[in-house]
Parts: sequence; structure tokens; C-alpha cells
Amino acid sequence: MSLILWSAIGYLLGSVPFGLVIARALGLGDLRRIGSGNIGATNVLRTGNKPAALATLLLDSGKGAIAVLLARWLAGPEAAMLAGAAAFLGHLYPVWLRFKGGKGVATFLGTLLALDWRLGLIACALWLATALLGRISSLSALVAAALAPLAALWLDGSAMAAVTAFMAVLIYFRHRANIARILDGSEPRIGGKR
Ligand code: G3P
Repeated sequence: MSLILWSAIGYLLGSVPFGLVIARALGLGDLRRIGSGNIGATNVLRTGNKPAALATLLLDSGKGAIAVLLARWLAGPEAAMLAGAAAFLGHLYPVWLRFKGGKGVATFLGTLLALDWRLGLIACALWLATALLGRISSLSALVAAALAPLAALWLDGSAMAAVTAFMAVLIYFRHRANIARILDGSEPRIGGKR
């Protein structure tokens, strides 16, 4: 019962579309009609409002981290993994937006940081290093997602690696359009308009 409850709590936390809410509250418009149409921090940055993008990044990652930390504190490590994965799913498929949500990168990073700070730091470092080299947000996410399950396996064993791999596969699935643009050279650089 407790595991189902923590999955539900994680999902509900993750399903809060902070980017959309912040952009609307600041009068930046409907993110779904701006840039890539995504509701994440990268697309908020395309509005030109850096503090709003930073707030989106922190809140979208924070909701994954809070779900994990709360569940671990009150119900243990198994509930924590489920709550983190559920928060990630909530961001991708939020009931409030008719299940049309974001790509999950910030929530992935926040969830990993809370599950195991070493794993989270490795994933963030991979994202950052790729971003500094290539200046393409989606490419950074794809590199971090590809390598994080291996880091999880190395650090923590199979359960953590399975949860990380599950999220990584969904990140690839949600970045299908980005992958096509990366391949044809039309994916915009971080901060660039489109
Ligand atoms: O975090 C999402 C990022 O990887 C891609 O966002 O807006 O460029 O599709 P976007």
C-alpha cells in the first residue's frame, strides 16, 4: 500500500508544470507556442528571461528531489526509487495537461541527486561538460542520460541502475524531434531563439 501511495505522491508532485506556470505568471506567454513548445527550462530561456529559466530548472529538479527525500524519510529506499520515477513520469505525462508534458531532464537530474548525490553529480557534470562543448541543451541531456545508468550500476548496483535506465529510455523517447534536428544540424544552441 505504502509503495502505491508514494508512487501517487511522486506523480502528483512531478506533474506540476513549473515552467508553464512561471511563464504564464510573468506574462511570457504559453510555452507550448514558443520555441520548441516544450515546458522546460531550456524553452523558458528562449523567452529571454534568465531568472525564470533558472527558477524553472530549480523547481523542476526540486520536485523530483523532494519526492525522493520525502519517501525515503517516511517509507525507506524502495519507496524513494518509486517516488522519484513517478515524479519523472508526472513531469512527462501530467494529468493537468492531458498527459502532454515535458522531456524530463531537470526532474531526472533532481531525482538522481536525491537518490545518490554522487550519481546526480556525475549526471550534472556530464550535462554541463557537453553543454560547454556543444552548447546544445538536448545533446547534453542525451549524453547524460546515456551514461547515467552505467554510473548508477558502478556506484549502487542493479535497482538504482534499473530506475535510472528506465528514465533514460524515456528521455530518449521524448527527445525524438531533438535527435532528428541534431542529426540534420538544425537544433538551436542554448539561449538561441527559434
Ligand atoms: O531539457 C529539455 C532539453 O533537453 C530540450 O529542450 O526545448 O530544446 O526541446 P528543447
